[in-house]
Amino acid sequence: MIDLPTVIGHRGAAAYAPENTLASLACAAEMGCKWVEFDVHLTRDDVPVVIHDRNLKRTTGMDAMIDDIHSSQLTEIDAGSWLDPMWSGERIPTLAQALDACRVLGLMPNIEIKEEVSGRRAAARAVAETVRERWPADLPRPLVSSFSLRVLYHMRTLAAEIPLGLLMWQKVPRFWTLHARVLRCASIHVDRTLLSPSLVAKAKRHGRKLAVYVVNETPDADGFLAQGVDSMFSDKPDLLSNQGAAESTLEAASV
Ligand code: G3P
Ligand code: MG
Repeated sequence: MIDLPTVIGHRGAAAYAPENTLASLACAAEMGCKWVEFDVHLTRDDVPVVIHDRNLKRTTGMDAMIDDIHSSQLTEIDAGSWLDPMWSGERIPTLAQALDACRVLGLMPNIEIKEEVSGRRAAARAVAETVRERWPADLPRPLVSSFSLRVLYHMRTLAAEIPLGLLMWQKVPRFWTLHARVLRCASIHVDRTLLSPSLVAKAKRHGRKLAVYVVNETPDADGFLAQGVDSMFSDKPDLLSNQGAAESTLEAASV
């Protein structure tokens, strides 16, 4: 059984620092997060990197696909200025760099492999290898999640030791309870609009955890907890766990 906290930083602490950057991970740690979620794609040379969109335009201004970018180009791409010029030094981290940062910051990672990743088996293999190389053996394994059942099946066959989370968005997938059982999923991660008493009950069978995304307001968080949700992904992890700390923590994280 996996041990998830009530609040998981979403893309780090995406409301306060550029999403999926090392600064965002540091910001989440500064705000007291124990876990963070971030998204992974593959570069042209099959290096797993931390970015949400396949197209770089929104978070770097560069109109290119991440799978057309070579990992050697990452140091030239600005992944922070889109949010504010003060973040201009931020880069698209490799998964290895993000795992190293999590270890140093005392964060447990939830690695989301994006469903539109360029190669699903290659992505699963790259993530499994990177976790084995970079994540300390004496710590619990990172949680790997995906909307893609194919990615999850590849992960399960390539890395029996890594806990898996099944993601849902827009609609509840057919036969999802069967997949969750066969994959031995540790957790179910659902878009908040999909929540229902029946889904809560089914998700939590066999000791699985139920997490919802994205929750940024405290009244909403209280409601989800009352419905039996275990964890919430939040862009504002401080608001859910410690109201009012955002401003001072943001200042601390930016120096
Ligand atoms: O993993 C939870 C959540 O991040 C899934 O949606 O689009 O924010 O990656 P998205
Ligand atoms: Mg995500």
